[in-house]
Amino acid sequence: MRQKLIAGNWKMHGTLEFSKKYLDFLLPKVPPSLRVLIAPPYPLIAPMVARSQGFSIEMGAQNMHAENEGAFTGEVSALLLREIGAKFVILGHSERRHLFGETSAFIRKKVFQALVHGLQPIVCIGETLEEKESGKTKATLERQLFEALEGLTPEEVEKVVIAYEPVWAIGTGKSASVDLAEEMHGFCRLFLAEIFGKKVSDRLPILYGGSVKLENAHAFLKQENIDGALIGGASLDPEGFLHIIQSI
Ligand code: PGA
Repeated sequence: MRQKLIAGNWKMHGTLEFSKKYLDFLLPKVPPSLRVLIAPPYPLIAPMVARSQGFSIEMGAQNMHAENEGAFTGEVSALLLREIGAKFVILGHSERRHLFGETSAFIRKKVFQALVHGLQPIVCIGETLEEKESGKTKATLERQLFEALEGLTPEEVEKVVIAYEPVWAIGTGKSASVDLAEEMHGFCRLFLAEIFGKKVSDRLPILYGGSVKLENAHAFLKQENIDGALIGGASLDPEGFLHIIQSI
């Protein structure tokens, strides 16, 4: 059985004050049986880790660089993220791919690097509207999965989380239908089984992301192949986020 997982991606939102109030509200209410993750902007990770000591919420990053150190102005390493208490890192988010031009090769290097430093990678994949409309959804998912994970051993792949986030559903209010999401998750799981074996693919959590909110979260989360959600906008309201957590 795969444990359900709810992850909040704050993107470029939040302040120190906001994060304090958010955690003061949420921390005592989250049941320890659940895996709840939050990815705030980099400078908030360390204070949020400190504030959540003794509680079951884990903090992580929305991105990182593929090298340990060097002349990469504005970048942050896996080594440092790990040192400040991050437990996971979101990699290959569509905003990174499309707004910041991240290539599959770069994303793969980051996946390797995250694993080397004991950060759990949450690897995002998903088709654009154009790919969807031209019938290329499955080919896109296969390609992105292959390119992100190629060269990893099955043992390494077991440490990865996949997030299926159709690009057209992110931040648009138009989520995928539950049936479509479940079909694509099942498709990804079969594809991963072909490459890394059924045992690995059966254990790998695959999250759905893209306009998840209280009204639709429960329907997604009860699907056989949907192991949780990666939530952007709706994770910024601690009360709403808690309701989603409680709806599992
Ligand atoms: P959204 O974002 O929930 O605001 O659609 C999801 C994401 O980008 O991870």
